[in-house]
Amino acid sequence: MSFKVRIASADRTIDVPTGETILDAALEAGIGYPFGCQSGNCGACKSHLLKGEVSMEGYSDFALSDEEKTSGLILACRAAPNADCEVAWLQEEDDQVIHPRQVLATRVLSLDDATHDIKRVRLEVVSGEPFYFSAGQFVSVSFEGCAPRDYSMANVPGDPVLEFHIRLGQAATTSAYVFTTLKVGDPVLVEGPFGASHLREAHRGPIIAVAGGSGMAPMKSIVERALALGMPQHIYFYFGVRAERDLYLHDHFADLAKKHPTLHFIPVLSEGDGIARRCGLVHEAVAADWDEFDGCKAYLAGPPAMVEAATKLLEQRDMRRLDIHADAFYTAAEMAQAGKKTGAEL
Ligand SMILES: Cc1cc2nc3c(=O)[nH]c(=O)nc-3n(C[C@H](O)[C@H](O)[C@H](O)COP(=O)(O)OP(=O)(O)OC[C@H]3O[C@@H](n4cnc5c(N)ncnc54)[C@H](O)[C@@H]3O)c2cc1C
Ligand code: FES
Repeated sequence: MSFKVRIASADRTIDVPTGETILDAALEAGIGYPFGCQSGNCGACKSHLLKGEVSMEGYSDFALSDEEKTSGLILACRAAPNADCEVAWLQEEDDQVIHPRQVLATRVLSLDDATHDIKRVRLEVVSGEPFYFSAGQFVSVSFEGCAPRDYSMANVPGDPVLEFHIRLGQAATTSAYVFTTLKVGDPVLVEGPFGASHLREAHRGPIIAVAGGSGMAPMKSIVERALALGMPQHIYFYFGVRAERDLYLHDHFADLAKKHPTLHFIPVLSEGDGIARRCGLVHEAVAADWDEFDGCKAYLAGPPAMVEAATKLLEQRDMRRLDIHADAFYTAAEMAQAGKKTGAEL
């Protein structure tokens, strides 16, 4: 049995089998429904329930408050219809960008060490160009013989070469392949783009960008795109790493900050000596610098623990959920455990 669900924002009506969520069915039908965590925690799929009735289980108050629920809002990733329905996702200015999903054949153009455990991989597109995405989005990357993994673009949209920063995980498979076996000239399949944590190009308030480790990749794209567009606001880019040897692109961003007085690049070392650099956890540095976040938007990427701590802090300081755009770099196993889909499964 299934229910008819009209998705007003996409002007489409789909069949949603009993027990399936509106988000899952919409993505399966190829609709570019906005989503993030797929587990009721981020609010990116928040939607108006215009008609009908749904059941929702297991979501955080942070993603959907009781007041929002009472006013007719639902989370599409948690909502299974109990009747025919009509929904519309929330639309804020340029919140909603939908790029068609593309499949690109690429080849490794260069491979180098960004740090002792992060490789910078640059891919030239062999077929499938032009590739459209928004700064901050990610793709599903398939290296030969490896399971596909999600990686965020570090280049800005429009660059002919795609750049990725791939961190070697513990007991890892795909990232270990990149470190030990991948070589220049190898073919690589890229599919996407995905993700809702992209730069909001019409926003004019301060930008707080927070990256941990290889979370640098999407933040580099976001910050460079904002500067290239001439977005006038101040950009506070916090880059959290463990120690000096984990810091990369420091000179690049220090130079950009000299050219663009609106850019403030703030490296934070969790195991530093406190003399040359700021010390502590990166979200604590944000907490020390900011009392309130009126008009700000935050972009966060990197290890899940960092992203979760930074999100909690911003929430406690009353930043609106719609102004927090976060990608936690969950492993595929963590995604499966949380019932989320990787790019390759979408
Ligand atoms: C939206 C999104 C964007 C992402 N973007 C990037 C990116 O730009 N750069 C990037 O480096 N990664 C990124 N990731 C993570 C990436 O997709 C892989 O999960 C990561 O590279 C590990 O894959 P693997 O095959 O090497 O390890 P797997 O074989 O999947 O992992 C094996 C085991 O090793 C452990 N492990 C592996 N990696 C880590 C880790 N980093 N920390 C702790 N334990 C680990 C885990 O226990 C895991 O179960 C992103 C993830 C998501 C969801
Ligand atoms: S709350 Fe639905 S995607 Fe995050």
